[in-house]
Amino acid sequence: MNFYFAPMEGLTGYIYRNAHHAFFNQSINKYFSPFIAANQSESFKTREINDILPENNQGIVLVPQLLTNNAKDFIHTSKKIKLLGYNEINLNLGCPSGTVVSKYRGSGFLSKKEELDVFLDEIFSQSITKISVKTRIGKDQPEEFYELIQIFNKYPIEELIIHPRIQKDFYKNKPNLKIFQEALTLSKNPVCYNGDIFTGKDYKEFSAKFPSVETLMLGRGLLTNPGLISDILDNTKLEKKLLKDFHDKIYDDYKKTLYGEKNVLYKMKELWLYMILMFSNNEKYLKRIKKAERLYDYNETISNLFREQDILEIR
Ligand SMILES: Cc1cc2nc3c(=O)[nH]c(=O)nc-3n(C[C@H](O)[C@H](O)[C@H](O)COP(=O)(O)O)c2cc1C
Repeated sequence: MNFYFAPMEGLTGYIYRNAHHAFFNQSINKYFSPFIAANQSESFKTREINDILPENNQGIVLVPQLLTNNAKDFIHTSKKIKLLGYNEINLNLGCPSGTVVSKYRGSGFLSKKEELDVFLDEIFSQSITKISVKTRIGKDQPEEFYELIQIFNKYPIEELIIHPRIQKDFYKNKPNLKIFQEALTLSKNPVCYNGDIFTGKDYKEFSAKFPSVETLMLGRGLLTNPGLISDILDNTKLEKKLLKDFHDKIYDDYKKTLYGEKNVLYKMKELWLYMILMFSNNEKYLKRIKKAERLYDYNETISNLFREQDILEIR
């Protein structure tokens, strides 16, 4: 099985990615960058370029992701990304957020099927890099997928990564495994599955149901348990010390690169929304982490958490 780390805006940037690679490096075949909004601007935003600079991603297989519905913008941004040394770019057709969807980007683009077809025709005809696609199964109805797959099948997509929810689901409800099953039969391109694999048990159930799937992309499950792949592959329980060292590395690197306590705390709080689920009796600690206004308070809560609580075996 190949494992990919899903792109997660605000969470899986290069600081997190490098720490993950350093502490859990055996596990991930590809990391995907949180989306870069491709627009007319000739230059990247500092945050965006920093995230994909080769010197910030050494030893990591990274696939930069673009969000746009404009072929010209995709193409000129692809050329710049290629100059950095990348040979695959991922197209975001999944983002469900209101501000993105209202501009017909991300999963909003799925509702403009003719425009999507023309867009794909233009970007594939240029063949600047390989292009993979990360998609939901529709905007409003799962059945939209039958039309979408006919469009996708017209192009040599490096990999079709399917998160089988519709835009309206956001992250609610369950992935639609019936449509995913159909996708496996209908897609002419290689398919990767993404959605709700949080534990070794989820993985076992999924792979028993879909033995032909060779590639899985994991997001929230890995943010919760960064050692999830070892758990999946050989039942290795996450060690508290390893998680602490991993945390400390991310925290130190944010302190070095971000300006001010507030920004560092904001980043760490986002991460703890997931990581806290690995701990026993976690509620009161999460409350305190969320409340922390100074690094001093944060440090105290984190050292208490690691000292007083155990890592849960989530299976
Ligand atoms: C906070 C957050 C940020 C995300 N950012 C991105 C993104 O930048 N690009 C993208 O394609 N998907 C993004 N996603 C979706 C994830 O990549 C993934 O498809 C989703 O979490 C489902 O997979 P999971 O169940 O393994 O978490 C984001 C999801 C969350 C919760």
